[in-house]
Amino acid sequence: MMSVKKILFVCLGNICRSPSAEAVMKAKLHAHNLTDKYVVDSAGITDFHEGGTADARMQQHAMRRNYNLTSISRPVKEPADFDDFDFIIGMDDQNMRDLKALASNKEHVNKLSRMTDYCTQFSMNEVPDPYYGGDAGFELVLDLLEDACDGLINKLEGEQSNFR
Ligand code: 4NP
Repeated sequence: MMSVKKILFVCLGNICRSPSAEAVMKAKLHAHNLTDKYVVDSAGITDFHEGGTADARMQQHAMRRNYNLTSISRPVKEPADFDDFDFIIGMDDQNMRDLKALASNKEHVNKLSRMTDYCTQFSMNEVPDPYYGGDAGFELVLDLLEDACDGLINKLEGEQSNFR
């Protein structure tokens, strides 16, 4: 049986950046006929927005690019998520610090990476929190996520397939 890779995107509230990362990644995997090879989910460092839909502004910006944000906010579950997922991908410096603090062993720490590390077009070190800003912040989030998801798929598929 083909092994499925499991990816968890994480931001602070799980209502802007990580649900968008989940939607962009799922759309790109679908476009490349790779849906069956991956499980993609998202979660927040905090439970402030648990049970809620994605931020309305983020949804509107995403919809303009044909991404439908359907995920419901939930906090990261430790250790369950760290055991369950193969890749746990944070959006900014604070996310990475918080995830490292949550990780309970070396194996968990080794699953952590930063979304912008997969970017090839942008040279930013974080996907900035758009919550208290304006339209440009939400657009930048989507630009960075699209770039990073392309890079992530290339990294995961590049060696073993004809994806390129
Ligand atoms: P996210 O954005 O981490 O990208 O989902 C935020 C959502 C909510 C808050 C901060 C950032 N908040 O402070 O409630």
